[in-house]
Amino acid sequence: MIVVAIDGPSGAGKSSTSKLVAQRAGWSYLDTGALYRAVTWLSQRENISSAEEILSAMKRYPLRFVANPSSPQIFVGDIEVTQEIRTDVVTQAVSAISAISDIRAELLTIQRKFISSAERGIVVEGRDIGTVVAPDAALKIYLQADLHARAERRSAEVNSSTEVISHSLNSRDEVDSTRAISPLAKAMDAVLIDSTDLTLEETVERV
Ligand code: DC
Repeated sequence: MIVVAIDGPSGAGKSSTSKLVAQRAGWSYLDTGALYRAVTWLSQRENISSAEEILSAMKRYPLRFVANPSSPQIFVGDIEVTQEIRTDVVTQAVSAISAISDIRAELLTIQRKFISSAERGIVVEGRDIGTVVAPDAALKIYLQADLHARAERRSAEVNSSTEVISHSLNSRDEVDSTRAISPLAKAMDAVLIDSTDLTLEETVERV
């Protein structure tokens, strides 16, 4: 079973690239950011913030990710939250939740189980896949792009100005790359791809 790890900051094109690579190869796909977002959604729905309460809620509402790259879905218990985890309220809180060590440990177990259950190969995207989750991945990519390019792409997807998005991406990257446990980082053996001047198709082709 082959693992391709794709890490990088928010908005560099990880999701679109990972899904297309997985589709082309006929492999599974795991969006680990969706898991952190789902936990954040759950903590907001239950109105809880301590690691202990969140871990106990995760036992009552187990996370389930559907690995099909053409229509990935995520469930919290029986509730499908594929759309809900993309709202601003979740986006603004997710980095803080992702910095809690006990939650990362729990999600690490879930991610590794999911990866080992893939049938042929799997493309896994996140922040710490090449460094922590799948250090033995056959291929590691670190996908980056200029902040301005990332903000412009996001602003075309959502109804918000480039300035507002730029600020939000920047502060999320700051928290994600400076946290104590498994911060966003390029693995030593990762291949760097800068997508600033590449189209999606060109980025997929490079991978
Ligand atoms: O990829 P995304 O923007 O959906 O990820 C949401 C957040 O989840 C991101 O700001 C940091 C966190 N995350 C993480 O800490 N580790 C990962 N492997 C994936 C995401």
